[in-house]
Amino acid sequence: MEIAATIAEFRQARGRLGRLGFVPTMGFLHEGHLSLVRRAREECGAVAASIFVNPTQFGPSEDFSRYPRDMERDLALLRAAGCDLVFTPGVAEMYPPGSLTAVEVTTVTDTLEGAVRPGHFRGVATVVAKLFNIVQPSCAYFGQKDAQQCVVIRRMVRDLDMPLEVIVCPTVREVDGLAMSSRNVYLQPDERQAATALSRALDAAAALYKAGERDAGRLRQAMRDVLAAEPLAGIEYVSVADPELLSELETVSAGALLSLAVRLGRTRLIDNIPLPG
Ligand code: PAJ
Repeated sequence: MEIAATIAEFRQARGRLGRLGFVPTMGFLHEGHLSLVRRAREECGAVAASIFVNPTQFGPSEDFSRYPRDMERDLALLRAAGCDLVFTPGVAEMYPPGSLTAVEVTTVTDTLEGAVRPGHFRGVATVVAKLFNIVQPSCAYFGQKDAQQCVVIRRMVRDLDMPLEVIVCPTVREVDGLAMSSRNVYLQPDERQAATALSRALDAAAALYKAGERDAGRLRQAMRDVLAAEPLAGIEYVSVADPELLSELETVSAGALLSLAVRLGRTRLIDNIPLPG
């Protein structure tokens, strides 16, 4: 596995590889990230990953400086998962002084995470566009865990005619249902236990849907009820939305996206499930 910290080094190493699958990450890797690497491994000739904690997608009061980092461990995990090439730029390499350009995807960034985290998706779209230009992948792999991010990246690729395929992979969960996240390490033991409320809330709403309920308001209420029963959980939003436009639905149709954001102490967690299409 080759490791490149500069764009020039990366381009040189990339030139020796053909069709490339790409997994962008912010590091502190877990099974969720590795599932993307393995999928890319199965589908592409070669696999590249990036590890870059992107400052432009964090708000001023968010956790950029304390975001967990462990480069040595990440590199060992990527090597074991069959990654061929890793891009590990510093902030100055990605954002040299004087950058004036950003990528902004509108409308689908106004709701959900975009409403609570102004500027977040501008930072995500900009860094992912830069990474695509540097890496030049045929396929890029993203996790369903960040459903709105997948929608935003798909739109960007389509609207800007980027020559690659976006592949969305299922959310990997702990045995008790908690979606894996680098941020789960922030949770105190009692918060970690309470965190199962997120997937339980989604499951409760999905069960109602399976039983025939089509009123989106009732599904939202079912999620709120489960979360309200967990004293440590502070609800930020619960949503039943169109999977492409991310606008709230009144009546649920196949493929609708159930999603929520919850605070547990100082930690903010998100989760979602798409209803069967
Ligand atoms: P990060 O949070 O490190 O996630 C990297 C990729 O792993 C994303 O596509 C994310 O959706 C996926 N992922 C995270 N947890 C997962 C899980 N439990 N199951 C499946 N996939 C999971 O998302 C980012 O980084 C950044 O925004 C990035 C795209 C790298 C741009 O900076």
